Amino acid sequence: MNALDKIKSEFEKVFSKNAERFFFAPGRINLIGEHTDYNGGHVFPCAITLGTYAAVSFNNSNKCSLYSMNFESLGVINVDLDDLAYKKEDNWTNYIKGMLQELKTHGYTIDKGMDILFYGEIPNGAGLSSSASIELVSGVLLKGMFNLDVEMIDLIKMGKSVENNYIGVNSGIMDQFAIGMGKKDCAILLDCNTLEYSYAPVKLDGYNIIIMNTNKRRELADSKYNERRAECENALGILKKELNINSLGELDAETFEKYKHLIKDEVVLKRAKHAVYENIRTVKALEELNKGNLETFGKLINESHISLKNDYEVTGKELDTLAETAWKQEGILGARMTGAGFGGCAIAIVKKASTDKFIKNVGETYLKEIGYSADFYIANIGDGAKEII
Ligand code: GLA
Repeated sequence: MNALDKIKSEFEKVFSKNAERFFFAPGRINLIGEHTDYNGGHVFPCAITLGTYAAVSFNNSNKCSLYSMNFESLGVINVDLDDLAYKKEDNWTNYIKGMLQELKTHGYTIDKGMDILFYGEIPNGAGLSSSASIELVSGVLLKGMFNLDVEMIDLIKMGKSVENNYIGVNSGIMDQFAIGMGKKDCAILLDCNTLEYSYAPVKLDGYNIIIMNTNKRRELADSKYNERRAECENALGILKKELNINSLGELDAETFEKYKHLIKDEVVLKRAKHAVYENIRTVKALEELNKGNLETFGKLINESHISLKNDYEVTGKELDTLAETAWKQEGILGARMTGAGFGGCAIAIVKKASTDKFIKNVGETYLKEIGYSADFYIANIGDGAKEII
């Protein structure tokens, strides 16, 4: 049964009626440009065809009854449209409550209750942005159901605000942007400083993009994530004493090399070095991809992982084992962690003909080194958040 049929029949079972409309938001992978978004640099993500589905219908009350097929044991959780404050016990529904509150705060009228069922195909905590996916599927659903005159870019910003101000993770805009603006078979080069963006066809003929899930949950991720942000802000503050800049993303290599001596703390210096050079690599990666220089593109991807391992220190044994084992395989173009790190997923670009062997070899080594299995999926690049018929 496909996902749409599944949510249709499950909706009927849970709410004893038919769903009126259906919505979808993808997950994302990032090809390169990691931990650059909140540093005002570039990112190069794409939306994937795996994502979050929602089925909905109005219910003639002022309550929303929310049900997730991923958290069946929690049953239906009721949310009062007049009481949208964050509550820990409301669990996963806080993401939807956050979006409801954002839209209402921005003056949009949401005055009718709904029954909504969610079904997510993205493993939680895998670093493929299941949270931004549920924010954006809620965004397009509310826009659709209430005929809201709201642009996708505003839903994206509201999703980020939910994450930052409601949930309390200080993340950048990459995930919501990729999930909102994704386009089939394209990656998005986004300048996170200006929000200017362009689509780049991912012409990797003869190759697969393989997602490799460490199956290690990112428990420490949020605190470490906020720590990295603070370290970069520290570096920026120091450089600002001599340089007229607003973000590390504005620095070219020459300027950074000239002024880096100002940063005395070795750890802070390493974090800044990653932010600056990762941004440069990302812009270069697009150029190389456009020119069809796949080898160089792959090399930049590998260099990104090395920098995230040695300078940004967000990889860990599991992600390193996947990437480093991947580099040794036949038919490999490049491999790196994707997303925040500290667990979650890595990606590898591998010749189609070598894919089966690749998965077998990397899987076996991972099991031997780590003691439990990794999961592998072939990523297909799909469209952004939308209504589905
Ligand atoms: C997480 C955040 C993004 C971005 C990445 C790292 O996915 O949500 O904003 O910072 O980590 O590149």
